[in-house]
Amino acid sequence: MAQDIREQVRARYALAAVQGGGDAGCCGGDPVGGCGPTVIDERFGAGLYGAQDAAAVPPEALAASLGCGNPLMVAELRDGERVLDLGSGGGIDVLLSARRVGATGFAYGVDMTDEMLDLARANAARAGATNVEFRKGTIEDLPLDDATVDVVISNCVVNLSPDKPAVLAEAFRVLVPGGRFGISDVVAEDHLTPEQRAERGSYVGCIAGALSRTEYLGGLAAAGFVDATVEFTHTVADGMHGAVVRARKPGPQDA
Ligand SMILES: C[S@@+](CC[C@H](N)C(=O)[O-])C[C@H]1O[C@@H](n2cnc3c(N)ncnc32)[C@H](O)[C@@H]1O
Repeated sequence: MAQDIREQVRARYALAAVQGGGDAGCCGGDPVGGCGPTVIDERFGAGLYGAQDAAAVPPEALAASLGCGNPLMVAELRDGERVLDLGSGGGIDVLLSARRVGATGFAYGVDMTDEMLDLARANAARAGATNVEFRKGTIEDLPLDDATVDVVISNCVVNLSPDKPAVLAEAFRVLVPGGRFGISDVVAEDHLTPEQRAERGSYVGCIAGALSRTEYLGGLAAAGFVDATVEFTHTVADGMHGAVVRARKPGPQDA
């Protein structure tokens, strides 16, 4: 079952990558499960980046944006930090992170879809970015060592995972003590049942698999995170929202 979902997601986003990203639409695409050419509205994709960020990446990377926010607005990156983007897609958030952390910092992207990795690496070459690396892997089993990044970001990917506890546990594992988790995702209001979420959009369209706010907070606490918050930013469907989710791995300051 989980494997079926992951394969459907991979196939949809492989298609999006070869069709040029956002124009092929997946998050927010056909609500009954399609991922063909579709109009991306203000809920998803490139329109969620300010002019300054949009101008800072190759147009191909902006066009490939399929997220539901701008996680860099969430994460407050600093010079020299190491950043990991879960489900890096065409690479826009990795490239923006790499600029923010500067030459002494580093930005990793992890994605399971070969076509997306090819697109991201091509976009990194266009941008001339040298402090980035895109690794193939799943966000449920990250190809990074323990305690190797300062910040975990992500843009509209956790909702696509069939095993969210594993994603949150892996994010916790790769963060250094005191490290920050700051992501954009689709989140449901607590009163919506899983069936009601599925009525509002498909799994591959980033709707049906969304956690509720309380489920998110509970999952983060179960993984070991502290100071977790979920803040709705914009409505993407009835009772469902683009949201910023923040949390922290306990560190020396908690001793
Ligand atoms: C909605 S797109 C978002 C891409 C990018 N974050 C952005 O904002 O444009 C989802 C991406 O996550 C990847 N993905 C989905 N589920 C994944 C998983 N379980 N493990 C690794 N990558 C995954 C897909 O291949 C795709 O590139």
